Amino acid sequence: MRNVFKTAIIGTLALAGVGVGGLMAANAAGGSSDYKMKHMHWHFDGWRGTYDRAAMQRGYQVYREVCASCHQLKYVAFRHLGDKGGPYYDDHYPNPNDNPYVKAFAADWTVEEVDLDTGDIIERPAIPADMFPPIYPNAAAAAASNGGAVPPDLSVMVKARTGGADYVYNVLTSYDKDDNYMNKAMGIKIAMANPLSDGLVEYADTEYTDKDGKVHIIKAPEATVDQMAKDVTEFLAWAADPKMEQRKSLGLATMLYLLILTILLWFSYKAVWRNVEH
Ligand code: HEC
Repeated sequence: MRNVFKTAIIGTLALAGVGVGGLMAANAAGGSSDYKMKHMHWHFDGWRGTYDRAAMQRGYQVYREVCASCHQLKYVAFRHLGDKGGPYYDDHYPNPNDNPYVKAFAADWTVEEVDLDTGDIIERPAIPADMFPPIYPNAAAAAASNGGAVPPDLSVMVKARTGGADYVYNVLTSYDKDDNYMNKAMGIKIAMANPLSDGLVEYADTEYTDKDGKVHIIKAPEATVDQMAKDVTEFLAWAADPKMEQRKSLGLATMLYLLILTILLWFSYKAVWRNVEH
């Protein structure tokens, strides 16, 4: 009987250990011979890290205005932008289909669909429920426009490459000064010409009114290559793992539960064996 309790307590502690270990697991970064991968401190790193909302919003702007002329986000729907944990989540719009930002972003894209009456392909503005549409009609057209290489889908890019967010950031910031195609993080010339240059997008200041009616202006950072690369990576990290924040808080609740369970088991173990010679 005593062993059963011991096993239970040790088992609980072991489970807690595995949980903590899992949450803290870090990505190892890859890279080429003499280029040194820069390791960044991401807002979402660590067992309590969350996405930086302002950075994700700027990142969406970079994706929309720059990357989206070549790269699709086929696993993301417009409505996801307004989900809990997403860049445009707003308490006032628990249903992201009603979120005015989400509606405006969707309407800014065109989707094609088959008209069920005539069989023709028609174009219409996207709605929040639509997925991000393809950029090219097919892979051959994509390759023909990009020197023979198909721009990969970016929905899960941050998860798909060794080094994760650090890798994507390094790809975007490691082009050779004299050769627009030479990417030092990848160690070769690639078919994507350096997509970023200082000032390419215009970040807007944001303002909010506090509860006393006072208006505060939050200055937008300078749109340097480094800043845009960080922001679009933050956005793509969210796209690849939109449930991260929920998972981390569930992990924390689980740890707490296991801790309390361990304490209770310890006291019941003591109580059960109180009058037994052992
Ligand atoms: C003009 C088209 C174009 C634009 C704009 C563009 N890309 Fe690319 N991208 C490509 C092509 C083509 C490839 C494939 C390169 C290759 O495999 O040689 C690629 C590859 C990539 C890769 C993959 C590297 C790998 O490991 O395979 C990433 C990450 C990437 N792009 C991110 C971005 C981001 C983020 C933006 C916006 C800031 C962007 N791209 C803008 C065309 C583009």
